[in-house]
Amino acid sequence: MFDFAATPTLPKREIYRELAEAAAALTAGETDTVANMANIAALIWQYLPDLNWAGFYRRVGDELVLGPFIGKPACIRIALGAGVCGAAAASGAAQLVDDVHAFAGHIACDAASASELVVPVIVGGHVIAVIDLDSPTMARFDTQDAEGIAWLAEKIANAIKG
Ligand code: SME
Repeated sequence: MFDFAATPTLPKREIYRELAEAAAALTAGETDTVANMANIAALIWQYLPDLNWAGFYRRVGDELVLGPFIGKPACIRIALGAGVCGAAAASGAAQLVDDVHAFAGHIACDAASASELVVPVIVGGHVIAVIDLDSPTMARFDTQDAEGIAWLAEKIANAIKG
């Protein structure tokens, strides 16, 4: 059994530090990328409040393909440049979307989603995956969340690369 406990009263930066450390510990020495992505998605779900979807899309050829996640079933393939995930993958830049309905081309997988944060996972200068978080609350994510997930992405990049 793994017993990682989130401390929701901590400042956001500390929560992300704990999350990144838990993810690094949980994936240390494990080479199965699906298992690692599954556990990281579960940790994100456990550590961060007010989410309705959290998980991975993996870069496969010229598109993103759904990876391990927590939430409702989601669209399986996203072209590079399409939607919030495709924008993050094509640009290599995090996408912080306060209102998904105002994002041109947003792909709605769960009608409850109101805001979204997508952060690329980069290895050797290439986007290998994105971490996608959705929330039912408008403007749920801020720059500290974007920095925190970018930190997580950096920590776990090698554990999820095929
Ligand atoms: N909203 C995303 C699609 C993936 S789901 O949110 C899980 C997008 O616009 O790329």
